[in-house]
Amino acid sequence: MAYDFDQIIDRKGTNALNTDGFRGYIFNADDSMTFPYADDEFIRMWVADMEFATPDFIREAIKNRLDRQILGYTKVFSPDYYQAVVSWTERRNDWTFPKEELVTAPGIIPALYELVSYICQSKDDKVLILTPSYAYFEKAVSANGNQLVTSQLIHKDGHFSMDFDDLEEKFNQEDIKLCIFCNPHNPTGRIWTEEELQRFGQLVQAHNTWLISDEIHCDIRRPGLAYHPFAKVLPDYDRLIVTFAQSKAFNMAGLMFSNVVIRNQELRQIWKANHYDFENPLSLAGNQAAYEKGDQWLDEMNAYLADNFTFTKSFIDQYLPQANFEIPGATYLAWVDVSAYLPDDVTDLPLYFANEAGVLLEGGDMFVNNSDGYIRLNLAMPQAILQEGLKRIKKLLTQKGH
Ligand SMILES: Cc1ncc(COP(=O)(O)O)c(C=O)c1O
Repeated sequence: MAYDFDQIIDRKGTNALNTDGFRGYIFNADDSMTFPYADDEFIRMWVADMEFATPDFIREAIKNRLDRQILGYTKVFSPDYYQAVVSWTERRNDWTFPKEELVTAPGIIPALYELVSYICQSKDDKVLILTPSYAYFEKAVSANGNQLVTSQLIHKDGHFSMDFDDLEEKFNQEDIKLCIFCNPHNPTGRIWTEEELQRFGQLVQAHNTWLISDEIHCDIRRPGLAYHPFAKVLPDYDRLIVTFAQSKAFNMAGLMFSNVVIRNQELRQIWKANHYDFENPLSLAGNQAAYEKGDQWLDEMNAYLADNFTFTKSFIDQYLPQANFEIPGATYLAWVDVSAYLPDDVTDLPLYFANEAGVLLEGGDMFVNNSDGYIRLNLAMPQAILQEGLKRIKKLLTQKGH
């Protein structure tokens, strides 16, 4: 490998959410909240960014842009950015789209908030999501005052699937205006099959529902696995919007940049009329470089991550055999059912693991619903840290009295 993913990087003093923001984000608390562990004693397996260095060619591109000396108002004027994006989506994921359909946003979450507000103009409009779900899908809906409809994924022996009977019922009864869909899925890591997406797509088309396919995790996959861009499954459906970004795969979420492909011309016009579309020049340079130069780094990162998943799976099978976990096809997240090991009185899982094990993780009701007894472990870290985190989790869950 050309890149060193074992390197442990000190994030102290960088205002990182991962190190400094966990009280607010996980526990809804301020700095007065204390734990039996000092902040730097925690093993942090929570928020979805990585402990790996943002790649050198991205930092280099940012430095080069900085060396141009002037950081004035910036927009995406040159066609180079679009070329970098479609060249990437074509060679890595076998799909592409016309230039006029691409807009950018300072992150997918801000884009979701905007899109929901443009699409759901009436407070009575309903939005469907699958649960467990990335919590910001729900937040984008409630912030706009709309009603949330959830369909629970079915979990059987480590495998998650959509409940199509339930989905058909919801589509028939609820008059769904918009679906926010995660492809591949956070937190389960499922890469949906083409057949599953077609079935979901048929429901969407039959009811003329808007569909946002959030594909932010698509480039983080176990080696050899492909995913199915929704744009390929529904090549002609005008109400499809696809969101994706360099941020997850290249560990650059702090640069606040994402891509949104809007097919529908009217919606695009609403977006353009309302969206503040200036860019951070350093972000733009870094994000363009990611897609222009990122293949080898990403392949190596995915290979390293695959080893982390294999290690985690065999660790859990050996030491926590009653936990339910299968290696997912995508994301760097392990979604593990540890309910068999939890004392009856434990309801707040993140608090339990923070206080009793010194591990920061997400789990339980942080994922809207259908997530009781599950923890989400971020595995994108040097294996030495991962081993310590798993050791602590095992120690807590197998201690006497459980
Ligand atoms: C499914 C999904 N969408 C969006 C985001 C965040 O996107 P952004 O940082 O571009 O706002 C995340 C982050 O974890 C995510 O898991």
